[in-house]
Amino acid sequence: MTEIIDGNAVASEIRDGLTDAIETLADAGRRPGLATVLMGDDPASQTYVNMKQRDCEEVGIDGTHAEIDGDAPASELYDAIEDLNDDPSVHGYIVQEPVPDHIDYREVLRRIDPAKDADAFHPENVGRLVAGQPRFKPCTPHGIQKLLEAYDVETEGADVTIIGRSNIVGKPMANLLMQKADGGNATVTVCHSRTEDLEEKTRSADIVIAASGVTELVDASMLAEDAVVIDVGISRVDADNEKGYELVGDVDFESAKSKAGAITPVPGGVGPMTRAMLLHNTVNAASAQQG
Ligand code: GUN
Repeated sequence: MTEIIDGNAVASEIRDGLTDAIETLADAGRRPGLATVLMGDDPASQTYVNMKQRDCEEVGIDGTHAEIDGDAPASELYDAIEDLNDDPSVHGYIVQEPVPDHIDYREVLRRIDPAKDADAFHPENVGRLVAGQPRFKPCTPHGIQKLLEAYDVETEGADVTIIGRSNIVGKPMANLLMQKADGGNATVTVCHSRTEDLEEKTRSADIVIAASGVTELVDASMLAEDAVVIDVGISRVDADNEKGYELVGDVDFESAKSKAGAITPVPGGVGPMTRAMLLHNTVNAASAQQG
């Protein structure tokens, strides 16, 4: 029987585990604070930041949100970042991606105080991760590690194929999985748009992590029997329903399910874990900044 990996359930356990730490910090007069910054009006991003704010409320983190007009100059975003760096009630924050075309996201990241970088995207935090000394772990890859752990999927000695080389998922995922640490010690192959014979790389994997943004790229024919399949994709595809769209992953779920040993659904797999690990990083940031 193929196991359906329940990201909502694991994320809920993680949130429960955080509430004690949050109460302890609040008792000491330091309620953790997370800010989200959204520039522009990308509807998917709006939904994500709303969900992140709702999560904050649920666990007792002070959530604040700043919206910046998509046509505003970069200086307006930089000013907001400076304010957040200086605000002692904000322990962690994120600038939601994607940003408008005229904004250089790398410059945005460089301006974030690394101690408040709840996404772990600042170059200092990327370097620390690669060096095996992470301050924070990036939320999506960390969430995937937690999912694998929750379902007793051994990474040590496993062959893992990652599809996608983004800074948000593919690269940090590869780094975490190859670390000499719990949830690591895997042999990692990172595939991307120029990879030749992708199917050969996925068929030889014990674990396939699909994070390319190409809808339904992975099907049963690309998998080894009983492979563990983690679907990071979450594309909005036009649909004839109330919302006008449906969410589609990078994996053809019905096809892959017929061969996989375990598989994440979309939605309800990786997404809730990303959000839970953002709360985790915020609590860690608040603890570290305790004066
Ligand atoms: N856009 C999609 N995923 C993420 C994320 O994890 N963090 C930020 N800041 N933007 C995103």
